[in-house]
Amino acid sequence: MTFSPQLEAKFADLITHYPEGRQKGALIPMLLYAQDEVGAVTPEVIAEVASRLNVKPVEVEEVIGYYTMLWRHKRGKHHIQVCTNLSCMLAGGEELYAQVSKKLGIGHRETTPDGQFSLEETECLGACSWAPAVLVNYDFHMKMTPEKLDRLIESLGSKQ
Ligand code: FES
Repeated sequence: MTFSPQLEAKFADLITHYPEGRQKGALIPMLLYAQDEVGAVTPEVIAEVASRLNVKPVEVEEVIGYYTMLWRHKRGKHHIQVCTNLSCMLAGGEELYAQVSKKLGIGHRETTPDGQFSLEETECLGACSWAPAVLVNYDFHMKMTPEKLDRLIESLGSKQ
């Protein structure tokens, strides 16, 4: 499998942060980086990463089965996570999740047919003081309101 030169550079740098013999510690960040580029942790990604870290593909499968941030099917270009954990729930997180779900016509861990958006109802994002919190890819949006959320989705939709 071939990755972009940018991703190869990230992998090369990442490996330097792990001591010889312990490089399989890079497994999760490698999978996340690959997922960002490919859109999912595909069987090809699993085989490639396993080979590079000298681990068995089944070990990679076990990690993917445990961590919900790793997706086997394609996520959207804009992956929207809406926190509905306690602080966010009390500040309207569940309503925000329902709003996005209705607007995009998708549910938890689903992707729109055009591949632009995916949605995930998520546990605490670590931004409780700024609830309700929404994460789009790696960008936090805090103290979210229904109006701000509508504007956000519309602005993301226009960046196709
Ligand atoms: Fe939502 Fe912590 S409960 S960020």
